[in-house]
Amino acid sequence: MKLFIDTANVEEIREAASYGILAGVTTNPSLIAKEGRKLEDVIQEIASLVNGPISAEVSEGDAESMIAQGRELAKIHPNIVIKLPMTWAGIKACKTLVSEGIKTNVTLCFSVDQALLAMEAGATYVSPFMGRLDDADMEAEALIRKIADVKALYGYETEIISASIRNLKHVEMAALAGSDIATIPYKVLMKMIEHPLTTAGLKIFADAAK
Ligand code: E4P
Repeated sequence: MKLFIDTANVEEIREAASYGILAGVTTNPSLIAKEGRKLEDVIQEIASLVNGPISAEVSEGDAESMIAQGRELAKIHPNIVIKLPMTWAGIKACKTLVSEGIKTNVTLCFSVDQALLAMEAGATYVSPFMGRLDDADMEAEALIRKIADVKALYGYETEIISASIRNLKHVEMAALAGSDIATIPYKVLMKMIEHPLTTAGLKIFADAAK
């Protein structure tokens, strides 16, 4: 399973990229707002740090405006992926942008039906949200598994990005459910290396080495 980082903070991205395990980046309007910078500037800087897909989300509500904004954002760098909402306008924009060779990520996916629409529209990526499903007491792992099953049954090329990841359990569930990618916040990504027995083992070996 490929690992993306879910952040618009360039320092976090720089550090994660330095370990050599980072395959891409996702951002959203909330993450961009947290940085207090213009979307275009942040995306451009991220593209200079990571050699992989970078999702930049449109802010427009109707299909024509999403398409126009998507075309502009895609000009920033060949790795830019246009993130579109799971609405009819988003699906329409997805179909058009994909036909122009622009990569897309249909976001805010909470059901197999929604994922099917994104896959039929030719989306490069579809993003089911695990944490928000958990918040609503709905099954996150089962959804990822079902979307992966539908993808395999019909041979869709759309990649599944498990998103809205809040903890290590979500990462593990995404991997076991057959997600292609997990997009992970910096703090959770950093915790993936930790285990108390590794820490204890390191101390034993360090003491022995003395
Ligand atoms: C995905 O691409 C989104 O940016 C993100 O994972 C949403 O996570 P949240 O539910 O924690 O806001």
